[in-house]
Amino acid sequence: MNVTEAVTTRRSIRAFLDKPVEYDKIRRVMDTARWAASGCNYQPWEAAILTGQPLQELQAKIASTPPQELEYDWDSPKSEDAYKQRLFGISRGMFDALGIARDDTAARMAAMGRNATSFDAPAVMFVYFPRLMKEPQWSDTGMWLQTVALLLREEGLDSCFQEFMAFYANVIRDHLGLDHDRYMFFCGMAIGYRDAQAPVNNFERERVPLEQQVRFIGWD
Ligand SMILES: Cc1cc2nc3c(=O)[nH]c(=O)nc-3n(C[C@H](O)[C@H](O)[C@H](O)COP(=O)(O)O)c2cc1C
Repeated sequence: MNVTEAVTTRRSIRAFLDKPVEYDKIRRVMDTARWAASGCNYQPWEAAILTGQPLQELQAKIASTPPQELEYDWDSPKSEDAYKQRLFGISRGMFDALGIARDDTAARMAAMGRNATSFDAPAVMFVYFPRLMKEPQWSDTGMWLQTVALLLREEGLDSCFQEFMAFYANVIRDHLGLDHDRYMFFCGMAIGYRDAQAPVNNFERERVPLEQQVRFIGWD
């Protein structure tokens, strides 16, 4: 698989096959992802990847804990209509694929709630870093996460990033033995093999046209 194939076949997977993630594969991915760039070579990211019993135990704790107040804000772009429309676009695609009507709030909430078990992915990565990391280091962590996602594709694996897990930052830190004062919890990442037949893994996603995003200057 070349890089273009890895980029274009990656999508957020929200239905997984009942098939374990091989330790050799996930270890190889994480080992290679260490070569992601970071400002000042700080390499701010840290993570724990859980499967089997330890994952089930954490999921049981999450299921019995109410969502907490978020420690960071992912919603602020919604205040501008253009960004709100992008969010609505992806939500519409996902709920339509799941056969959930626009006004069926209960079914929508239940579908969102499937984040809590990472859509039954056999492995989940939990990502965190020391609180002294600021915007540039959050961005570095995003680059590393994308590197992980692309390397997973090379191994035939799939993923879904999960900010949702920030609702359970305290439970996750406790489960992983992380100091609350030192560590900011960022996100989860569901990892496994995609159910290629599931409609939720096959709906059309939209992207902003290139010309709206990037200016090419000096080529004409
Ligand atoms: C940092 C980050 C956090 C995300 N959190 C969630 C999440 O909690 N639940 C979810 O279903 N998707 C989540 N997503 C997936 C996005 O909704 C998805 O990337 C976006 O809609 C584009 O679709 P694609 O990944 O299929 O290309 C997240 C993506 C990123 C990059």
